[in-house]
Amino acid sequence: MTILLSVTGFDPTRWREALLKASPNEQIVLRPASAADEAIRYAVVWKQPPGVLANLPNLQAIFSLGAGVDHILADRTLPDVPIVRIVADDLTKRMSEYVVWRVLDHLRRGMTYRAQQTARIWNERLQPAAADVSVGILGLGELGRDAAEKLRVMGFPVSGWSRTPKALDGIRCLHGEDGLTEILASSDILVVLLPLTAETAGMIDDGFLTRLKRETPLGTPILVQAGRGGLQKDSAILRALNDGRLMEASLDVFEREPLPADSPLWRHPRVFVTPHAAASSDPAALAPIIVRQIAAHRRGEVLTNLVDPGTGY
Ligand SMILES: NC(=O)c1ccc[n+]([C@@H]2O[C@H](COP(=O)([O-])OP(=O)(O)OC[C@H]3O[C@@H](n4cnc5c(N)ncnc54)[C@H](OP(=O)(O)O)[C@@H]3O)[C@@H](O)[C@H]2O)c1
Repeated sequence: MTILLSVTGFDPTRWREALLKASPNEQIVLRPASAADEAIRYAVVWKQPPGVLANLPNLQAIFSLGAGVDHILADRTLPDVPIVRIVADDLTKRMSEYVVWRVLDHLRRGMTYRAQQTARIWNERLQPAAADVSVGILGLGELGRDAAEKLRVMGFPVSGWSRTPKALDGIRCLHGEDGLTEILASSDILVVLLPLTAETAGMIDDGFLTRLKRETPLGTPILVQAGRGGLQKDSAILRALNDGRLMEASLDVFEREPLPADSPLWRHPRVFVTPHAAASSDPAALAPIIVRQIAAHRRGEVLTNLVDPGTGY
């Protein structure tokens, strides 16, 4: 049995080694040997080149190397086989670390104090308590729920927004268009952990940013975006930062990645940029999970963490 490992944008060596370590008896190939490679049963992919999965007559399932699958669904020639995404403690914890880190840094005025340090200014700023700063999380999936719980434990009042109704202990759960209006109008810090789908594409635009609160205990609202860059208009975020609708932003994802060198976001004094690194997929932690799923599927068990191509996540 052969597994196809097809990625673009990074060197697949660590993934190949981790897959081989977890599954020493299988063949891992980096591209189909011929247009129709009958030995390939499973594909493990990240932004596979369009068409690479189209002519594999025995392909049984496609595995994403990460939680998101927009990079797979963008290929219009996908065969009709199940798509499985990563749900893993390792990934979830990394994302929650990022969210808690950024929310606490904004709460504790990290940006201001770093600027003050550069200018050697000794000036204590007003410090609201976590209990007085509301956090709204767009996306209450695997990642959003864990981040919400960790922020709740730290004392923040937390709301979350999802497509379908939810009930979570200690979290105000909202959904639908009215829920979006409410969470935008009531969050002091807004965290975005949504997938990129036809419904969410481009949603963080001027209109969205105008629906945010006008005043917060920290000044004006703060945006923490670690979903997908396709959700946002970079220029709208810049406008909102410059006209005061947003006070600060932590951005891990961008309309174009890598963020172009001439983007004003790089040098904006109130923007914290990370290179799509909020929750990296660690091959050593995640390859065994994929291999276990493949083994279970071969024994006739059902695949879990399946993607619904209808909703796109
Ligand atoms: N920056 C990074 O390093 C990084 C790393 C990993 C993942 N991510 C991103 O994080 C995303 C979320 O991951 P996850 O594992 O939490 O996904 P998930 O478990 O599929 O959860 C997605 C959440 O978004 C909600 N949602 C989807 N479409 C919506 C819509 N139109 N309106 C309102 N809510 C909507 C879902 O609502 P329901 O609950 O009602 O279905 C669900 O709560 C991934 O898709 C990926 O893009 C980024």
